[in-house]
Amino acid sequence: MTKVLITGASGLIGLKLSDYFTRKSYDVNHLSRTISPKNPKRFKWNIKKGKVQLEALKDVDYLIHLAGAGILDLPWTKTRKKELRSSRIKGTLLLYDAFKSIGHFPKAIICASAVGYYGLKDDSDILTESSPAATDFTGKLCADWEQSMDLFAEHSRLIKFRIGIVLDKAAKIIQKTQKPAKYGLLSSLGNGRQYMPWIHLNDLAELFSYAVHDDHLEGTYNAVAPDHTTNREFTREILKIHQKRQMVPNVPAPLLKMILGERAGLLLYGSRISSQKIIDKGFQFKYENINTALAEIYDL
Ligand SMILES: NC(=O)c1ccc[n+]([C@@H]2O[C@H](COP(=O)([O-])OP(=O)(O)OC[C@H]3O[C@@H](n4cnc5c(N)ncnc54)[C@H](OP(=O)(O)O)[C@@H]3O)[C@@H](O)[C@H]2O)c1
Repeated sequence: MTKVLITGASGLIGLKLSDYFTRKSYDVNHLSRTISPKNPKRFKWNIKKGKVQLEALKDVDYLIHLAGAGILDLPWTKTRKKELRSSRIKGTLLLYDAFKSIGHFPKAIICASAVGYYGLKDDSDILTESSPAATDFTGKLCADWEQSMDLFAEHSRLIKFRIGIVLDKAAKIIQKTQKPAKYGLLSSLGNGRQYMPWIHLNDLAELFSYAVHDDHLEGTYNAVAPDHTTNREFTREILKIHQKRQMVPNVPAPLLKMILGERAGLLLYGSRISSQKIIDKGFQFKYENINTALAEIYDL
């Protein structure tokens, strides 16, 4: 049986991939901060203490590396920023050392990075994988995380996905917009013109599967739908599904900044990101535009 190890498997993407690969008869194992007697295939690691249950790594064919503290979850204090970085970079280095210590590396390692690599911009240039990393916090976080993953390239096929906002019924962005949309109280953020590179979770699962199965796939790929959607278009589509129109003014940028601090940038800025590189490799998106993605999510 082909063995897959997933870090951060208890999160949105991890749960989906866990279920996806289990249904395809893979031997799916989790590397987590907590262990559960209910889940015998869950192994423990502690990034702060530099400890990994080595048994988890034995005979792993594919490593899917997702673990990292939630970017939007808590204010970006100095301590939180340190946690956002160390949970990703220290975690990756710890995994590398652990695989090295047992003298076995997976055939392929598929890692999550994010479109935050390109930074908090609001121009309409289309960015590709060869566009430079930004020098702001998320740009540096993603660039340094990706660089730490490069250690694996000597031993394993390495694929890094720069993921956009993941859309699914269970995604926070869908959960949080549902109620206001139902009462017609949903509105665009800031001027609403910022792009929101997104991907449907089903397409993302197919993309990870594609990376596992295609022995030739290597390198960095943007994991975003081909369509470019602004925050205003996204808001309008959700309202349309609820048979509403925007009735309240846009949420002013200064108010968002007051509530969320530096994190507001994640909602107020966004670029157009190209997925042409992965399309050219033969990957076909099922959810190419926001209407089809939201129609699936809302069972239309
Ligand atoms: N969802 C998106 O829209 C999106 C977009 C771009 C990139 N990404 C990236 O993709 C990865 C997975 O995303 P997701 O949405 O599934 O994230 P998520 O729901 O926040 O789950 C991340 C998982 O990482 C582990 N984790 C959390 N805090 C940690 C810490 N301090 N140290 C070590 N591990 C920690 C947890 O797993 P355990 O409890 O099992 O340890 C958690 O379930 C993340 O790195 C995220 O930055 C996500």
